[in-house]
Amino acid sequence: MASADPFSEPFGTLFGDMITVARGGPDGYVYSGAAEPLADFSIHPGTHALHYGSTCFEGLKAHRQADGSVAIFRLDDHVQRFINSISLLRLPVPDADLLRQMMIDSATANLDHTPDQPGSLYLRPTIIGADHNIGAAAAPSQTSLLYILCSPVGDYFAGGIRPLSLLVETKTPRTTPQFGSIKSGANYVMALGPTLEAKAAHGVDQVLFATDGDTTETGAANFFMITDDKLITRNLDDSFLHGITRSSIIQMATDLGYEVEERSLPVSEILDGAETVEMFLSGTAAVIAPVGSLIHEGEARTVRDGQPGPNTLRLREALVAVQSGTAEDPHGWRTPIS
Ligand SMILES: Cc1ncc(COP(=O)(O)O)c(C=O)c1O
Repeated sequence: MASADPFSEPFGTLFGDMITVARGGPDGYVYSGAAEPLADFSIHPGTHALHYGSTCFEGLKAHRQADGSVAIFRLDDHVQRFINSISLLRLPVPDADLLRQMMIDSATANLDHTPDQPGSLYLRPTIIGADHNIGAAAAPSQTSLLYILCSPVGDYFAGGIRPLSLLVETKTPRTTPQFGSIKSGANYVMALGPTLEAKAAHGVDQVLFATDGDTTETGAANFFMITDDKLITRNLDDSFLHGITRSSIIQMATDLGYEVEERSLPVSEILDGAETVEMFLSGTAAVIAPVGSLIHEGEARTVRDGQPGPNTLRLREALVAVQSGTAEDPHGWRTPIS
């Protein structure tokens, strides 16, 4: 299955044939030290995560470099964010070194399934609360199952680099304000209803959540505005995911001489800016995806001429160059694994 072309299959539906697995408990984690063949797990019907949502994940990529080797992008930042999510779910927290090694081992064992650029190997570290206990609604799981699954991927948004349409949603939030920075499935399923409704009613690609007029992010990506000299994005708080692509873009834009503003982003500013300001989404899966139109309260607006803007494409090119090893790596973002 993994030998199929990741650009002709939906993102996330192909899998590498090796996986790393560890089991955690009050005395720490047990990992064999090597990847094993991908196989189904046997899950007890009373498993904590199935009932009380004690599960979270990460998403990062290993990129084939221009010289044929492979490097993982911002490995340590993803390890740290995973640890943050795991501790907020009150699951047994693995050491950073263990997580790091399991991610490297899994990617290394799936090197043969790592496509050439612009494809990549998407790593999906996942943890689930594994206690068999349906009475533990208000108690954490003492044990956990941790694994790193790999998926050869192409484009996240079908159709390659194309301008996306967004519905600006000001009433229904993506998730609860205190849970937004955790990469937990509950957040995604909460955003699903509004996103499906927006797609059906308006034919948009995504929903931009801007509860009470305060813009944060879409269902799976952060949001940016950019002009020839300024980059603007929402300041961090607990209400949305602290994207690692977001932080890479801020650093690269600073290096390129853009003034960077991290601050609140009122919907009125986005709507008023549509005529002149470029907008894009960012994420490990989405990379940098241009926004071509916005719909707000039934009214559609084209963002500039509706096409990907020069500053958006400039940043995308710079990001892809660091990821794929055709540019220097001044901030030490690449971890070579082969
Ligand atoms: C809700 C949400 N926001 C933002 C992002 C972007 O985060 P990152 O750049 O770390 O992939 C993602 C993707 O992981 C996401 O799921």
